[in-house]
Amino acid sequence: ALVSLRQLLDHAAENGYGLPAFNVNNLEQVQAIMAAADATGSPVIMQASAGARKYAGEPFLRHLIDAAIESYPHIPVVMHQDHGQTPAVCMTAIRSGFTSVMMDGSLEADGKSVASYDYNVAVSREVVKFAHSIGVSVEAELGVLGSLETMMGDKEDGHGADGTMTREQLLTDASQAADFVARTQCDALAIAIGTSHGAYKFSRKPTGDILAIDRIKEIHARIPNTHLVMHGSSSVPQELLAIIREFGGDMKETYGVPVEEIQEGIRHGVRKINIDTDIRLAMTAATRKYLFENPSKFDPRDFLKPAREAATLICKSRMMSFGCEGMA
Ligand code: G3H
Ligand code: 13P
Ligand code: NA
Ligand code: ZN
Repeated sequence: ALVSLRQLLDHAAENGYGLPAFNVNNLEQVQAIMAAADATGSPVIMQASAGARKYAGEPFLRHLIDAAIESYPHIPVVMHQDHGQTPAVCMTAIRSGFTSVMMDGSLEADGKSVASYDYNVAVSREVVKFAHSIGVSVEAELGVLGSLETMMGDKEDGHGADGTMTREQLLTDASQAADFVARTQCDALAIAIGTSHGAYKFSRKPTGDILAIDRIKEIHARIPNTHLVMHGSSSVPQELLAIIREFGGDMKETYGVPVEEIQEGIRHGVRKINIDTDIRLAMTAATRKYLFENPSKFDPRDFLKPAREAATLICKSRMMSFGCEGMA
């Protein structure tokens, strides 16, 4: 059944678990997530980014998620729009049937310039007003995603702040978060704690100076009833990088967000954990391996099947680690 984000996150808070929110772009990813949810009895959040809408088109994404709901009627599913850059983009998604939207007002509508606090409050509030009048949930963002190692805004996948940031900008302020939530009435708040999108997050296994899990605790202490969201939360498994390299891929040394750090976040109010890159890595590793070992195969189903299975495995693993088992 299609449900709102608020419903799922309230349940997660009551029961002390976190929900992975997986980005989807195609059929195999949707099927992989649902297979993992079915196997573990987990609720599901599927989200479509601007890049996904550009790649597949919103109708295809919407109908793929609808098909997932029809195929697994016993699993609650949130259809969420990831990183809406303007209120207009959010309104369109709401009108087309999404049950949750992210209004990302941390950046201006160009997706590159850091927005003023007042701008962020105004656009987030505007979307909340419209969304709440029809039972749709809203995630807002305070703070700018980027690296505390390089002090650079998040640029890897083409959306994110341009240029050098200050530590202040890259870490959400706890008292500002309290004011922000009071003024916007958002259902969930994405925070900046040193993570960034994509595969290249950290040059070493992160420690507290570059991945600020303690900041989550400060924020949660101020706004205990607000569901916190971690973006850029792929763990970038070293074993997937190794397979990609073994079968012809070229990926530099890199580290993601350790699952244990996410679990620590979940103990302090993190309820939604955004994951895209790990599914990409799993599918690419399986595809490269399959095609290398079976050079005469040319039917896409032959390599998409192991790719889909690899995606299912990683989704299952995150659902189990975040405590979702049996919560559907
Ligand atoms: O927001 C970040 C997600 O990883 C989506 O990436 O814009 O390449 O679809 P994308
Ligand atoms: P990753 O790139 O770490 O998977 O993060 C995805 C994300 O935050 C989508 O909004
Ligand atoms: Na990055
Ligand atoms: Zn994100």
